[in-house]
Amino acid sequence: MNHRVGTAVESTAGNSRVIEVMDSGQRRPGRRFPTLAETQKGETMRVGVLTGGGDCPGLNAVIRAVVRRGVSEFGFDFIGFRDGWRGPLEEGYAVTLDVHAVRGILPRGGTILGSSRTNPFKVDGGVDRIRENLAKLEVDALVVIGGEDTLGVATKLYELGVKVVGVPKTIDNDLNATDYTFGFDSAVNIATEAIDRLHTTTESHHRVQVVEVMGRHTGWIALHAGMAGGANVILIPEVPFDIEQVCGWVESRFRSNYSPIVVVAEGATPREGTMALQSGDLDAFGHVRLGGISDVLAREIGQRTGRETRFVVLGHVQRGGTPTAFDRWVATRFGLQAIAAVKEGAYGEMVALRGTEIVRVPLSDATKELKVVPIEQYEEAAVLFG
Ligand code: F6P
Repeated sequence: MNHRVGTAVESTAGNSRVIEVMDSGQRRPGRRFPTLAETQKGETMRVGVLTGGGDCPGLNAVIRAVVRRGVSEFGFDFIGFRDGWRGPLEEGYAVTLDVHAVRGILPRGGTILGSSRTNPFKVDGGVDRIRENLAKLEVDALVVIGGEDTLGVATKLYELGVKVVGVPKTIDNDLNATDYTFGFDSAVNIATEAIDRLHTTTESHHRVQVVEVMGRHTGWIALHAGMAGGANVILIPEVPFDIEQVCGWVESRFRSNYSPIVVVAEGATPREGTMALQSGDLDAFGHVRLGGISDVLAREIGQRTGRETRFVVLGHVQRGGTPTAFDRWVATRFGLQAIAAVKEGAYGEMVALRGTEIVRVPLSDATKELKVVPIEQYEEAAVLFG
């Protein structure tokens, strides 16, 4: 057999077509993509794509779906902007984004485009530079994949005339107007597996284990992973905790011969005046860099109860690696519908999941307020504390 099995591109007289080469060497027409000549001739659009803010599993699945549908169904061509808003802001951050570039990326975590927390509204002349660069590169519209901050910038740029469609992303799941963001399910599964593992070692040593998960403003990861992992106590930013009560729950778990696991969201805070906390540096959007509540909490619990207490910060492990099937499914559908929104000129809109439907909502609604854990859901989980 001296042929290559798989797909190949054949060019004749400037036209290219995709063919499939079978085991037998037989060749048959494969899925057809528009030729360069066809896309140039039609009313083709050039669409820019960027991913901003903290990365999360599923970003690549969105990029792949946007590009594949955009190319094959609408004849669009694409430019990828590297490193979030830095991409359209600075020169030299634009990359080719075609079907070849998105092959094989569906299960890959992170983002092939890179990310950053660049805020163009904090850069002198930032908005004008974005406009100029988009015009220079002949970019007609942008698909912006991001969370609260990245989509907040997208909203403002749209109000200033830039054609933008948004895709919601964050492991925190705190974006209003969508039931779920992709990345959340992956993070919850990683955290749950970590809690399962911590149970066995904690039990062996009769210790208290504090597990810190992400969740800057909201406790969705802590709540879901804590419930799934059978945590003794779950602490979330929405409900300031009482350290005395936490210690009471810890002791009651020991009384039933089990070792307590305390799951704490990084943004959780004690009730005023009950425990001292440290503060950190600010990023370009004015957020404190978090990470460390579990250390403080473990020391307090240890001192107050006399029990050996350890802590672990799961941190960026929750954002790494391959997305779950659910996240790939949501991300792919978001991508497919986001590029359809561009095709229909639905700018200033964001795709969102409502039940099992993908809908469109105004970008401004998505970023107006955070989706916090309702107190009833927290109280439901709290029935099992202690
Ligand atoms: O916003 C998503 C998130 O994962 C938060 O939960 C967390 O506080 C933050 O990003 C961490 O960001 P960085 O990667 O910049 O440390």
